[in-house]
Amino acid sequence: MTRKTYDQLRSARWFAPDDQRSSGHRSRTLQMGYDAQDWEGRPVIAIINTWSDAQPCHTHFKDRVEWVKRGVLQAGGFPLELPALSLSESYVKPTTMLYRNMLAMETEELLRSHPVDGAVLMGGCDKTTPALVMGAISMGLPFVFLPAGPMLRGNYAGKYLGSGTDMFKYWDERRAGNVTREEWQGMEAGIARSYGHCMTMGTASTMTAIAEAMGLILPGASSIPAADANHQRMSTQCGRRAVEMVWEDLTPDRIITPAAVTNAVTVAMATGCSTNAIIHLIAMARRAGVPLTLEDLDRIGRSTPVLANIRPSGTLYLMEDFYYAGGLRALMKQLGDKLDPAAITVTGKPLTEGLEAVPIWNDDVIRPLSNPVYHEGSLAVLKGNLAPSGAVIKPAACDPRFHRHTGPALVADSYPALKAIIDDPDYPMTPDTVLVLRNAGPQGGPGMPEWGMIPMPKALLKLGLRDMVRLSDARMSGTSFGACVLHVSPESWIGGPLALLRNGDLVELDVPARSLNMLVPEAELAARRAAWVAPVAKYERGYGFMFNKHIEQADKGCDFDFLRSDFGGPVDEPVI
Ligand code: FES
Ligand code: MG
Repeated sequence: MTRKTYDQLRSARWFAPDDQRSSGHRSRTLQMGYDAQDWEGRPVIAIINTWSDAQPCHTHFKDRVEWVKRGVLQAGGFPLELPALSLSESYVKPTTMLYRNMLAMETEELLRSHPVDGAVLMGGCDKTTPALVMGAISMGLPFVFLPAGPMLRGNYAGKYLGSGTDMFKYWDERRAGNVTREEWQGMEAGIARSYGHCMTMGTASTMTAIAEAMGLILPGASSIPAADANHQRMSTQCGRRAVEMVWEDLTPDRIITPAAVTNAVTVAMATGCSTNAIIHLIAMARRAGVPLTLEDLDRIGRSTPVLANIRPSGTLYLMEDFYYAGGLRALMKQLGDKLDPAAITVTGKPLTEGLEAVPIWNDDVIRPLSNPVYHEGSLAVLKGNLAPSGAVIKPAACDPRFHRHTGPALVADSYPALKAIIDDPDYPMTPDTVLVLRNAGPQGGPGMPEWGMIPMPKALLKLGLRDMVRLSDARMSGTSFGACVLHVSPESWIGGPLALLRNGDLVELDVPARSLNMLVPEAELAARRAAWVAPVAKYERGYGFMFNKHIEQADKGCDFDFLRSDFGGPVDEPVI
């Protein structure tokens, strides 16, 4: 393998020439207390850090970045920490999804505009993983992703509590009058006990598993709990490895091949896969020039069982248990020849290398193919006259009697309208009712909020029911569960057929047949379509204005059209 020389490094264009501009760069680096020894002959490694005071999942990044720098220095590099938007799932409204592409753009442009040769990307809370990866793919410098790691498992009154999942579950019980205020306060304090991302197999854990399976994370690193000392060691290894990747010129296009994307989809399906991951997977693959579609996801899903027995698809275990049982490498081992050995990782070696020697400590947590949690992948893609471009459902996380269901629609045009329905204990509906929320898609939400796991209506809770068919163009949290049909595309806000649905229309869901239809005659739909009036735009200025002009639909990954890899020619390196 040929190695780069110092003169070939990008950063050398800033630091090496004997001219006035470079002199300015050197002088300003000296201003910070460094001297020539710090940069001469060394790759500069950007550490994109999504730490902030408003990001509880990344609290430890303030400290971990020092371990990354240590690794960069050990390997002979020069670390530069560059802070970026922290996108806390907990606080950012209306939804972090509105800003995923903003962080992707920030990542790409931070890397482009600074004197750096490679990067360590620090993320983990839901959108941060795809955002950082998307931006870094588009810039094309060698990078390694440092996953935040899951927080400790939740604990209250001697029972495990899983992020999101148990909050939703017990909130329904609280609304049904079965949980006291004191008990609830105990759960609030017990469900999030340490730094780190959500410790169910929600979007965060799914996305870091996907990034590892795609080859972008050091082997096994995505499963390490945030509070485990192995996380510090892994952080240092990321720093060391990023320096070597620069010398080896191990750019993302060499890693993210069609084989790597297929491996990522396979692993995602076997984890139990957050529905959000579908959108991010498509967006990441398309950035890398791999045209992944919903059909590909459904096809791979049909032949990949769920092996990770982690909530919400599993019943008991959480990410801490997953790590102790062997972690993601053990899950990959269970997948056997379903993984393509042609794909390599940030190590430069095949993803599948060494898997046969990986121990599996608990095969109830990480199941063998012969004893899966669910016989197919966790996601199904539905199509029909309600969703011509597709919708998704998580069959493993809902009551099987809803896999084939026909019932009358009850439609809410906004979240406040929906709340009025679900909070009224006497609202007329039946267990067959299909509860619909629309105008909650990429443009309608805006930003496609996680409103799709519509809380169970009080009118059904009081009958003792805990699941029903729910339908929307929104997303739902990866920690959610229930018979929720999501991501209906095209969305109603732009005139997708969901906009034409009326109260009482029969909706027919057939998961085995992968279909989703409204049983309304075509002539009637044509008349409704002709009468449909487009809603008034939500933003007249600012980021939201740009978002609405350029956001793509869920089946395309919700990227901005102008950020796609096939949009226009390549961007030139900056003039120095
Ligand atoms: Fe950060 Fe769930 S809130 S991962
Ligand atoms: Mg989430």
